[in-house]
Amino acid sequence: MKYLTWFILFIATTALGLQSSGETAKASQRVFRLDGGDVTYVVGINDSGQLQMVYWGKRLPATQEFASPKPVPSASSFDMSSNTTPQEFAGWGEGLYVEPDLKITFPDGNRDLVLKYASHTASKDELDVVMKDISREIYVKVRYHMDPATGIVRRSAEVSNRTGAPIAIEQVASGTYHLPRANNYQLHYVTGRWAGEWDLQAQPIHGGKTVLESRRGTTGSQNNPWVMIDHTTDHDQDQGDVWFATLGWSGSWQIAIEQDAVKGVRITGGPNTFDFSYYLKSGETFQTPYFYGGFSDHGVGGASRLLHRFEVDSLLPHAPHPKLRPVLYNSWEATTFNVNEAGQMALAEKAASIGVERFVMDDGWFGQRNDDHAGLGDWTVNTAKFPHGLKPLIDKVHSLNMDFGLWVEPEMVNPNSDLYRKHPDWVLNFKGRPRTEGRNQLVLNLARKDVHDYVFQVLDKLLNENDIAFLKWDYNRNWSEPGWPAVPIEEQKNVYVDFTRNYYDILRKLREKHPNLEIESCSGGGSRVDLGVLHLTDEVWPSDNTDAYDRLFLQEGFTYAYTPAVMMAWVTESPTWVNHRTLSLDYRFLSAMQGSLGIGADLNKWTAEDFAIAKKMIATYKSIRETVQRGDLYRLMSPREGEQSVTESVSRDGKQVVTFAFLHSSSQLYPFPRIYLRGLDEDATYKLNIVDGKMHEDTPQQATGAYWMHHGADVDLRGDFKAAMFILDRQ
Ligand code: DGJ
Repeated sequence: MKYLTWFILFIATTALGLQSSGETAKASQRVFRLDGGDVTYVVGINDSGQLQMVYWGKRLPATQEFASPKPVPSASSFDMSSNTTPQEFAGWGEGLYVEPDLKITFPDGNRDLVLKYASHTASKDELDVVMKDISREIYVKVRYHMDPATGIVRRSAEVSNRTGAPIAIEQVASGTYHLPRANNYQLHYVTGRWAGEWDLQAQPIHGGKTVLESRRGTTGSQNNPWVMIDHTTDHDQDQGDVWFATLGWSGSWQIAIEQDAVKGVRITGGPNTFDFSYYLKSGETFQTPYFYGGFSDHGVGGASRLLHRFEVDSLLPHAPHPKLRPVLYNSWEATTFNVNEAGQMALAEKAASIGVERFVMDDGWFGQRNDDHAGLGDWTVNTAKFPHGLKPLIDKVHSLNMDFGLWVEPEMVNPNSDLYRKHPDWVLNFKGRPRTEGRNQLVLNLARKDVHDYVFQVLDKLLNENDIAFLKWDYNRNWSEPGWPAVPIEEQKNVYVDFTRNYYDILRKLREKHPNLEIESCSGGGSRVDLGVLHLTDEVWPSDNTDAYDRLFLQEGFTYAYTPAVMMAWVTESPTWVNHRTLSLDYRFLSAMQGSLGIGADLNKWTAEDFAIAKKMIATYKSIRETVQRGDLYRLMSPREGEQSVTESVSRDGKQVVTFAFLHSSSQLYPFPRIYLRGLDEDATYKLNIVDGKMHEDTPQQATGAYWMHHGADVDLRGDFKAAMFILDRQ
């Protein structure tokens, strides 16, 4: 019996093959190809009308043709073809048990959904394929956009309900990416928690599924919505094939990485499916978040550089020319909630004296905000602390040639606030159930129109009445009791999507009305960093952990996915509150100068020598920031692999090369390993400029790119927590 089944299967498959080869001309019209950067992405419509992956990888010659794809045959009666065929967007039907892209419950109880090709439109960089259910008026526009410079594909889907009745979307993804069958894939991702974000992980991909996610209402730090996949045999940062995928969504999200029955790998991303439902009325269309995918044959380092370039050139506000980050001062670690006019003015004077360009007053300036038990929601100036409003401080900051920034946390409310006393129904809650507090605060239900409008108006008023160049937008807890009792039961779970949409809407509207405004996304550190929020904010706060040694790890993890151009890094006190570790001011500066520099120390405690060091370092930073924020980042030694950490940034024009080296501690007389630079022009001459630390005496003053890359350079670092920085200038 078993053999008979196999035989029938074989005949059926062969027959299918013959039929399709007889239709080559027609079939070839249904193969769609996108090329960008060094990447080719090809999909096609197979004989079953499914949208199927054909090729994703290194760019192929334009003359290369592709046959129309064929469904992958069932591996057995247990593994139907719907599961083994690399479908780009599959409904939950036809025996599908791998992660579906769309699952719907119809009002009559039917939950079967089988999507087949209906039509398409294609242009050079874009492809829209419309799929339709075999009997019901559910249409899905599967959308692709290829970034011409980097080859990064932007996937999304639009689900249209034309059935004449509402539907419940129970699961919806932006789409699925596929990697070809292989035995040795390795998944890179990050895990984390508050003050310990961006912890890089790598694990082989085996049979089964790994789900990375946030169920927290926002992006979260437990995982970040980003993955890279290479081969376990690739041990060099800059060599080997790498695929990556990353979501532009700041709500609860999910990326499932699944090895199927024939060892193909599927990467499905979109809103989190846990507790999910979206009530979509007839005539409405649900637009998914963007799910970006890319490929590099230059290892995880090359993949990061592609992502950085894409973010700077195509994604950030003002791309392709986002402004370089100004050097900022932030009051939080110096004054916490104890802000007042005189104290902030004194800090501002000191900050200006070392070359700071933006002064940011953090938490504590509003309502009854004397600690974290009260005030959130009441966004009016605390007149005990600022008797004449913010104007005198802002004027003072301007007179010192800095612009002014302010901290806000608009989606939150303390129960001890006028706002909560007036509108206790405005928070996420289930009727009659306790409201769990985090940091003594509750989450406003931004999905509600009245809350959305209130938050927008409050911020708009603040910006109209004060000359504010920058908002640090904070968010200090995750969701609990995600209820929305004010709407009909079937619509209550729409909160997961509508909250995030309204958050984006407020950011967008504020930027439209105040075009010079810059915004930082902060969530008690790095809990809201993703390609969705990066489209609407200018920088992010990667972690509340400001220990300059811990930062080497955090920054390495962060830059796998995100550009140093948005990675704020402050120089703070030593010993740090985090680990009670003592680090020199030079070390702290060099660690922070690998990102977008800020100062968060209590300047009242600084000595004259500290001010002198800071002034020199900030001036140096201004001369290299374009290279650090816009250039190509190479990770030469990872802090995860030993006592040393080395990064190198090469400016876009190749003229400046900045290298930072850090030593945790020397032992057994071993010198610092030799540093081999990357990304230089072999034949050009580069002149050495040692900014900090020592290099071996025999280091040449200038040498060819080939010398620096193949002979290498030796820094002379010995002791505990030492750092060096040198610049190569192309002659
Ligand atoms: C958390 C942020 O990450 C800190 O930098 C600071 O702004 C505090 N919130 C203020 O409450």
